[in-house]
Amino acid sequence: MKQRRIGDVQVSAIGLGGMPMSIEGRPDRARSIATIHAALDAGVTLIDTADAYHLHADEVGHNETLIAEALRSYGPDTSHVLVATKGGHLRPGDGSWTQDGSPAHLREACEASLRRLGVDAIGLYQFHRPDPRVRFADSVGAVRDLLDEGKIRMAGVSNVNPAQIREALEILGGRLVSVQNQFSPVFRSSEPELELCDELGLAFLPWSPLGGIGGAGELGSRHAVFADIAADHDTSPQQVCLAWMLAKSPVVIPIPGASRPETILDSVQAADLVLAPDELDLLDKA
Ligand SMILES: NC(=O)c1ccc[n+]([C@@H]2O[C@H](COP(=O)([O-])OP(=O)(O)OC[C@H]3O[C@@H](n4cnc5c(N)ncnc54)[C@H](OP(=O)(O)O)[C@@H]3O)[C@@H](O)[C@H]2O)c1
Repeated sequence: MKQRRIGDVQVSAIGLGGMPMSIEGRPDRARSIATIHAALDAGVTLIDTADAYHLHADEVGHNETLIAEALRSYGPDTSHVLVATKGGHLRPGDGSWTQDGSPAHLREACEASLRRLGVDAIGLYQFHRPDPRVRFADSVGAVRDLLDEGKIRMAGVSNVNPAQIREALEILGGRLVSVQNQFSPVFRSSEPELELCDELGLAFLPWSPLGGIGGAGELGSRHAVFADIAADHDTSPQQVCLAWMLAKSPVVIPIPGASRPETILDSVQAADLVLAPDELDLLDKA
């Protein structure tokens, strides 16, 4: 698997998004563990999660626990796998997503994630989403404190605009390593953040890169150009989508979600799919 970098850590060019294994429509535990093991077999060394990836109110961290269990039961050494988690979102159990970006909550959430992941320090901790009721500087300041205390090794932000990226970089004293924003064929408005990450050398992790849990399977029928180019390469529209993103900049590391081994095994092959400049041009304009 081709490699990219987050901070000073090398990771697979395609990561695994953990969300579909823990929210609405999730599979049973055995299939989730099989999915994570399939990703590891294929060379995936980046797994994205969050404490808020759960369904019921009383199972905060469902996805983190699942990932920790899958890493423990894998067999071969997994110490090189970067688990990237997040804090700042909450799920009260009624299907909604709420927020708490207060420093007190972020500290508590990080401590709980540390326990669930069973590590001394979290590899990459991302502030999930700016909370309109809390100064962004205060939330990012809490992440800086966690970094200073060694509770997290690297810091990232998610769902941010270019001004917030620059502000986070400054508050963290230059130690911001990643930005995670929505980016897919249907949602392209994160281009400015992607370009800024390229300029600043920050990893850019597109979330819902295939259009999200409900839309990923329909990518080819919704975006004919992706299907046409996939047919020319005898591959899937989803692989074309991920290869298109990878070609945008060496800082891009897509994190397609999966709840079945087959889908992540298809997605990882995008790391080796090379698209021609005229194809990339067509996809950009599609
Ligand atoms: N920071 C944030 O605010 C935020 C928000 C949303 C998501 N995320 C992160 O981003 C990750 C990815 O986003 P997402 O899971 O919402 O959406 P996504 O990656 O666009 O789509 C996920 C769905 O795609 C299907 N899929 C994956 N690879 C495929 C392939 N090669 N061919 C056909 N179908 C394929 C999977 O199906 P199966 O389930 O059948 O395997 C899965 O349900 C999440 O898992 C999460 O870690 C972050």
